[in-house]
Amino acid sequence: MSEKIKTIGVLTSGGDAPGMNAAIRAVVRTGIYHGFKVMGIYKGYNGLINGDMFEMDMRSVSDIIHRGGTILKTVRCQAFKTEEGIQKAISMAKVFGLDAIVVIGGDGSFRGARDLSKHGMKVMGVPGTIDNDIGCSDYTIGYDTCLNTVQDALDKIRDTAYSHERCSVLEVMGRHAGYIALNVGIASGAEVIILPERPFDFHKDIIKPIVEGRNRGKKHYIVIIAEGVGGAVGGAISLAEKIEEITQIETRATILGHIQRGGSPTVRDRVMASVMGAKATELLAKGEYNKIIALKNDQVVGIDINEALDTAKEMDKDLMELSRILSL
Ligand code: ADP
Ligand code: F6P
Repeated sequence: MSEKIKTIGVLTSGGDAPGMNAAIRAVVRTGIYHGFKVMGIYKGYNGLINGDMFEMDMRSVSDIIHRGGTILKTVRCQAFKTEEGIQKAISMAKVFGLDAIVVIGGDGSFRGARDLSKHGMKVMGVPGTIDNDIGCSDYTIGYDTCLNTVQDALDKIRDTAYSHERCSVLEVMGRHAGYIALNVGIASGAEVIILPERPFDFHKDIIKPIVEGRNRGKKHYIVIIAEGVGGAVGGAISLAEKIEEITQIETRATILGHIQRGGSPTVRDRVMASVMGAKATELLAKGEYNKIIALKNDQVVGIDINEALDTAKEMDKDLMELSRILSL
């Protein structure tokens, strides 16, 4: 039987996401409620390797639920991907008496957590990324806030596209995933949505809908491209140039960038972060570990980390088809 967990660490890793603070708060407060000592680890796996951590009390997470970013900071830590890095992290965890670590982050961070688990550390993953690209979970903390930020920006872009009778190309985040692009595309009635998950033909799927729209009386056009598409069209700027050259419609490009990652989390993100963070400590208190917290069929559950990382995220095919029909 494994030893009882007394001390847990919590860290944020990968790209920050609105709601990570609410998740940290939930882990700290429910962790203490369950009788754990809780250590905050700074700068993701970097802080674990360097022993950059401190004890957190109830008050250490006051006034953060409404703040974007992460008070624990985050880093993309290359050293952690090496055997030497993992060994250092495990040694440091022993020095600080960590029995388990809650990792708030995305797919990469969970792969790191799995490596820790293979070296005997108990881990728990809480999905925090604007990309909503965790295979085992229907939701990731930060996604809703991001969608609303992008929607707000797009409404503003639409005003100027309407006034100048232009085509506007908007590039949104989502490293390998098109969730942000697809959902904002539907919510904004975009003429064209280009996703990494959906193969496309430049003329048939981009130029033709714009030209046909013009023939039906449209005067301005919104094209949304997910950053993960890259390759064939070469991003928003080169896509805008090609569209203008072929259609003779004045076209502008906007790359929304990191504005999508910041801002005060929405109610959905604050609640999901609170529930998911609490679930992580509740399972640890029950003696369960090496799990990823996930939203499945409206239930927050813990899924075995290996199974979770082997689950590919399927794009909703009906939603993709609907986006095509609605843009006609
Ligand atoms: P996210 O967690 O948002 O997907 P990253 O992919 O940048 O973000 O991963 C965050 C960190 O997790 C990396 O900097 C690295 O320390 C660790 N990590 C990422 N991928 C792996 C991997 N395959 N194996 C071990 N650790 C990884
Ligand atoms: O994973 C979140 C994300 O914002 C992706 O959408 C994007 O590809 C990436 O992080 C950008 O990361 P960076 O912080 O290195 O700019």
